[in-house]
Amino acid sequence: MLIDTTEGTQFEAQDDLSILDSALKSGLVFEYSCKNGQCGVCKTTLLNGEVIELRAQLALSDQEKSDNKILTCCCAAKTSIKIDSTDLSALHGITVKTLPARVSHISYLSEKIVEIRLRLPPTAIFQFVEGQYLDVIWNTIRRSYSIASISADKEITLLIKCFENGQMTDYWFNKVKKNDLLRIEGPKGTFFLRDAQSPLIFLATGTGIAPIKSILNSLEHDSDFQQLHPIMVYWGNRSPEDFVWQASFNKLTVDFYNVLSQPTNDWSGDTGYVQDIALARQHNLDDTVVYACGSNAMIKSAKEQFLACGLDENRFYSDAFVQSF
Ligand code: FES
Repeated sequence: MLIDTTEGTQFEAQDDLSILDSALKSGLVFEYSCKNGQCGVCKTTLLNGEVIELRAQLALSDQEKSDNKILTCCCAAKTSIKIDSTDLSALHGITVKTLPARVSHISYLSEKIVEIRLRLPPTAIFQFVEGQYLDVIWNTIRRSYSIASISADKEITLLIKCFENGQMTDYWFNKVKKNDLLRIEGPKGTFFLRDAQSPLIFLATGTGIAPIKSILNSLEHDSDFQQLHPIMVYWGNRSPEDFVWQASFNKLTVDFYNVLSQPTNDWSGDTGYVQDIALARQHNLDDTVVYACGSNAMIKSAKEQFLACGLDENRFYSDAFVQSF
């Protein structure tokens, strides 16, 4: 069975694989993030043919289902089909690899956040676009983490949050030692900067700042990049100690707002939700592009609110941190 797209690409539907995985296996890259039906980033329109649901399409409303919307990470082709998807050529040439990686640095930045650096074998080549994520595999456990470093760095930096009763949390916060041998698989996801020559708003909650740090540092180090438009970052946390990155740039001018969700006596910054604070400050959304990374709840609310204020849907990109099963 064949899968056609509106832009004219065609690929084979692989047995038992989702449309998204069939595309990835064929070397095509469509929009995706969580790969488990929760974030909605891979949403597209089924233009003809039939699909079967491999897992629940949690991010689709009933209305969207009746409008022939599907999540490519949740559906497989039942017949030959045509979908409205675009291949992301910026990711061409980047292949997903599984590589060994040693823990080279462990730093507990707050009670709930640890910074881990991973060193790859000297001969290994691991290319990624800033903003992407990777999977870390320890024993039989696999978890996804956004990359906080840039591709020019020698090591890969991850910012990892503590989750109550998390199996991998137990490893990162109680067991990890320098030189531990892990495996990584990546890069993954399609959260990366599409057009740097627009006003940019970045929204992050918690360790969702990691890919934004990576994107901004890549711009800072890009000798071809000349900043012509404002860049704004709104970073939300529950506790003041979780603002573990003090951004400083020589070349970039970034308006950076730390936002605490619950006010405390000694907090003089913004309080509330990042999307509310951002919208209260930003009035003209005509050319603005919004990148949001963090909790699914923030992303859902931010998208609804920004679209309601006039942002074009194609100018909102997101990477949701969703629970692993
Ligand atoms: S719902 Fe498909 S990638 Fe998140």
